[in-house]
Amino acid sequence: MAANETVAVLGAGGTMGFAMSRNIARAGVTVHAWNRTRARAEPLAEDGVQIFDTAAEAAAGADVILTMLTDADAVLAAVEGEHGALAAARDGAIWLQMSTIGIEGTERCAALARERGIRFVDAPVLGTKQPAEQGRLVVLASGPEDTRAALTPIFDAIGDRTLWLGEAGAGSRLKLVTNAWLVAIVEGAAEAIALSEGLGVDPRNFLEAVRGGGLDAPYLQLRGKAMIERDFTPSFRLSLAAKDARLAAEAAARHHLELPLVALVRDRLAAAAEQHGDEDVAAAFLVSAPSS
Ligand SMILES: NC(=O)c1ccc[n+]([C@@H]2O[C@H](COP(=O)([O-])OP(=O)(O)OC[C@H]3O[C@@H](n4cnc5c(N)ncnc54)[C@H](OP(=O)(O)O)[C@@H]3O)[C@@H](O)[C@H]2O)c1
Repeated sequence: MAANETVAVLGAGGTMGFAMSRNIARAGVTVHAWNRTRARAEPLAEDGVQIFDTAAEAAAGADVILTMLTDADAVLAAVEGEHGALAAARDGAIWLQMSTIGIEGTERCAALARERGIRFVDAPVLGTKQPAEQGRLVVLASGPEDTRAALTPIFDAIGDRTLWLGEAGAGSRLKLVTNAWLVAIVEGAAEAIALSEGLGVDPRNFLEAVRGGGLDAPYLQLRGKAMIERDFTPSFRLSLAAKDARLAAEAAARHHLELPLVALVRDRLAAAAEQHGDEDVAAAFLVSAPSS
């Protein structure tokens, strides 16, 4: 991408969109930002990012329209309609969809892109707030080959690895696989720590016992510590994790797979999210915790 080209980031005030916008701007690419709640995106101005009142204004003239919003409905709300980004997309623009929206959501977006004659790239990410801030996400990219050169500077700015996986849709399918794994770790950590507390065993000794061995995982150490300390400062909101579990369960059902753990964790996270949706995913523990 030439230095004078432009990326419009929609959802630029979210946890992920904010960090990604800043890193793209710091890599020397012009960033136009839009966020439904404008104030959340405004600090990006310190990095030379221009903030716009509507998605259409941000997208006007942009080479790449990057969506990073909660779910498929939020993405479609940002791109459709009179003030939506697609109304202003220039010929040859690329729609880079990076939110986690599952198979059906991705199909809806791909169909809309086809209808509008815009190239569509499906590229959800792995990594949470801190890797996003550090530009260390893993990008699961899929879509037309002829978009790669234009997107490489963006992917290099936000991540340290990009996997190109084939036609649009392949990225989201792999993301669902990683979702199934993530929610299993969260529930496994929550239940082991709950058991530990229930048995009167110091749960810090559980984390210490597995540390660095075959049973360890960085995610267990990070979220396990948060569960033990009841520190649920959001990095990955529980409501988003509940959505991810739901998307994985829907994908399993669509492909006639019986995956009881995914279905169970979907229900557990949905229950926890009713009260703690805006807290970190570690708050899923509160459903299992003996003291709750
Ligand atoms: N956080 C993570 O660790 C992580 C990791 C990998 C993937 N993801 C995925 O990345 C996406 C964004 O996650 P996040 O953590 O950045 O979420 P977030 O902090 O909750 O931000 C959500 C963004 O979506 C916007 N939004 C929500 N509903 C909207 C609507 N109806 N119309 C317009 N804008 C709307 C919000 O705008 P307002 O500011 O106005 O509310 C905000 O910009 C999600 O799909 C998530 O699953 C997250």
